[in-house]
Amino acid sequence: MQTATTLDMLRNALADLRSAGGTVGLVPTMGALHEGHLTLVREARAQCDHVVASIFINPTQFGPNEDLDAYPRQLAEDSAMLEAEGVALLWAPTVEAMYPAGFATSITVSGVSEGFCGAARPGHFDGVATVVCKLFNQVMPDKAFFGEKDFQQLAVIRAMARDLDLTRPHVRDIVGVPTVREADGLAMSSRNRYLSPANRAAAAALPRAMQSAIAQIEGGCDVATALAALEAELLEAGFASIDYAALADAQSLTQLARLEGKPSRLLVAARIGGTRLIDNMAVG
Ligand code: PAF
Repeated sequence: MQTATTLDMLRNALADLRSAGGTVGLVPTMGALHEGHLTLVREARAQCDHVVASIFINPTQFGPNEDLDAYPRQLAEDSAMLEAEGVALLWAPTVEAMYPAGFATSITVSGVSEGFCGAARPGHFDGVATVVCKLFNQVMPDKAFFGEKDFQQLAVIRAMARDLDLTRPHVRDIVGVPTVREADGLAMSSRNRYLSPANRAAAAALPRAMQSAIAQIEGGCDVATALAALEAELLEAGFASIDYAALADAQSLTQLARLEGKPSRLLVAARIGGTRLIDNMAVG
């Protein structure tokens, strides 16, 4: 596996890959890799001839009071995991390489980025859309792979790529990969490692409460009633607060008061012991 830390190194390494022929898959990450990320890499390997993974803890997607400084940094360990998975090229730029002095551009995707995590984390999706646009332009992959765990992020990236003409033939496909879960159902996340053992055990209430809300909604129960029961179950299990719990149209992410026969998603963000967990599941 080659590692590039500057744009020149990246361009040279990409030219080598492309001269070998075949397709290139991109897996963007912020490192602190877990089985969820490795599943993205495996999917990229299954669908593409060469896999490029990026590790960049993107400062512009963290708010002033968020965990940028505490975010786990383990480049050597991550790099070994990617190499073992057959990644051809690791793009690990420095902050200066990604945002040189004078960098002045930001991409805002209205609509899908406005509710849910966008409302709770102002500016977050501008940071995500901008860095992913840069990654697409830098790597020009045939396909890019993102986890459905960050469902709203995936919708924002799809909208950004569509609106800025980054889709066919530039990035032919943006592939959403289903969430990978721990044995007790908790969605894998780099932030799970912030949880104390007691909170880690209590956090399994999140997927459990979501599944029972989905069963209620699919069984015809009023959506608001099912969501209120979900919130009560989380607070009872030890969660400190719920940022949002909502049923939304899976495409537009507009909130739904009832199941309307279209693909829908239950989206939840809740805090436990100072850690904010998000999850989403298909409904209907
Ligand atoms: O999901 C992530 O890890 C990040 O938001 C991403 C897509 C790599 C952009 O920084």
